[in-house]
Amino acid sequence: MNDNLIIQDYLLYTEEDHKTWQTLSNRQALLHDGIVSKAYLEGFRKLQLDPNRIVKIDEMSTHMQKICGWSLLSVDGLIPTRDFFYMLTNHQYPITVPIRKPYELDFSEQPDIFHDIYGHLPLLTNIDFVKFLQTYSAIALKFVDDERAVELLGRLYWFTYEMGIIAEDGIHKPYGGAIITSSGEMINVKSDAIPKHAFDVEHIFCTPYDNLKLQKEYFVINSFADLFKSLDGIEAKLKHHLLPADKLKK
Ligand SMILES: [Fe+2]
Repeated sequence: MNDNLIIQDYLLYTEEDHKTWQTLSNRQALLHDGIVSKAYLEGFRKLQLDPNRIVKIDEMSTHMQKICGWSLLSVDGLIPTRDFFYMLTNHQYPITVPIRKPYELDFSEQPDIFHDIYGHLPLLTNIDFVKFLQTYSAIALKFVDDERAVELLGRLYWFTYEMGIIAEDGIHKPYGGAIITSSGEMINVKSDAIPKHAFDVEHIFCTPYDNLKLQKEYFVINSFADLFKSLDGIEAKLKHHLLPADKLKK
């Protein structure tokens, strides 16, 4: 479908690469219980990952198909927006094959196999989240030729699947993959000085972000069912934001 699909040549990973996976996996194990969202944890346990060796994408894809109906595609780097949303609407999730270098343990600018597997697969086993993700992707496909619409919808993806927080028994817990796979974000998110807004699509559309810096704000959902409901009427809201500035209602 696109030039970014590649084969994961497992023999190309070095022992240093496996060590990077192991180090990052061990860190994750330390922070899981009681800190990240239940949905993430439940999904994570279903993956049955080997903390010592980099995952084989084909094997994990077969496993995912059995447990939740998703399959995985091996990719090299970021894929075109249209292809990405198309994959998601078809229950396919792209996994970056390379792993970060040892000097990027705390922060990797580009997605890597660790981020994609640990950050994004657990929630693909959650039915309510998947309803949101697939409906969101189908809407995004309709607007994919409009750069501004893609930017605004990208903010919604960012403040949910990457940087989302859910309130569980009054406690804020991350479910977003970019928080959970970043030790810096895990500390940042706990700071009272960083605003945690109630989830609001309009607010998110008006909130730019910097993916290379620690976040200055987050958005909190109450449930994944609520997150799904937030898509009601979103196309009208989006169209309103796409109007020229002089036509926007104040
Ligand atoms: Fe990601």
